[in-house]
Amino acid sequence: MDTYLETERLALRRFTADDADLLIELDSDPAVMRYLSGGNPTAPEIVRERYLPNILAGYEKWDGDLGLFAAHEKDSGAFIGWFILRPEPEGPLDEVELGYRLRQAAWGNGYATEGSRALLGKAFSELGVRMVWAETMSVNRGSRNIMEKLKMTLADTIPTPSDMEMVEGSEHGGVRYEITKEQWERQ
Ligand SMILES: CC(C)(COP(=O)(O)OP(=O)(O)OC[C@H]1O[C@@H](n2cnc3c(N)ncnc32)[C@H](O)[C@@H]1OP(=O)(O)O)[C@@H](O)C(=O)NCCC(=O)NCCS
Repeated sequence: MDTYLETERLALRRFTADDADLLIELDSDPAVMRYLSGGNPTAPEIVRERYLPNILAGYEKWDGDLGLFAAHEKDSGAFIGWFILRPEPEGPLDEVELGYRLRQAAWGNGYATEGSRALLGKAFSELGVRMVWAETMSVNRGSRNIMEKLKMTLADTIPTPSDMEMVEGSEHGGVRYEITKEQWERQ
């Protein structure tokens, strides 16, 4: 396995061209997609033709240091979902987005917090990152709890993107959290 990062219970690796089915299955669960698409699955051809090629192109662009990473339980080997640590397409390399999407079977174990905490550590101590940000729907309590457990600060409220207006709670808009290297070092 092309390991990117290990935590106590998780191993993160780079995706490969053979991983389309894992992504398709993850995005086919309405509970996973609740605050992303209103529960609609991502079409398999979009995963194969757009998402996965983009993920692989990102490793080329950022030397495998940044991008989207598959997460597995170390004990069972099971795929539990993915984490993202990625700059904006044309943005500075020292400002990166943190994100996570886990299979429902893996929820409630502290995995999202564990993986995210390790990614923050890697970003600030190895990758020269200056600021990490994350955005979610205001009503996505689980996602906000992770950001708050990581001691990220609520930096802004953001409008709901026009393609997410069908998502339950979208009338409350979104939130943006941030943490700088200095804030992380002070913890
Ligand atoms: C949001 C998500 C990543 C949480 O993953 P997880 O591994 O269960 O999260 P953790 O166990 O690390 O939980 C962090 C905290 O949030 C709480 N929490 C998790 N899901 C919650 C929910 N739906 N409602 C309220 N609290 C929740 C946990 O109890 C935990 O707090 P605690 O340690 O005080 O008990 C997961 O539910 C998911 O992938 N959802 C679908 C995709 C998604 O919405 N991604 C975020 C989009 S921005």
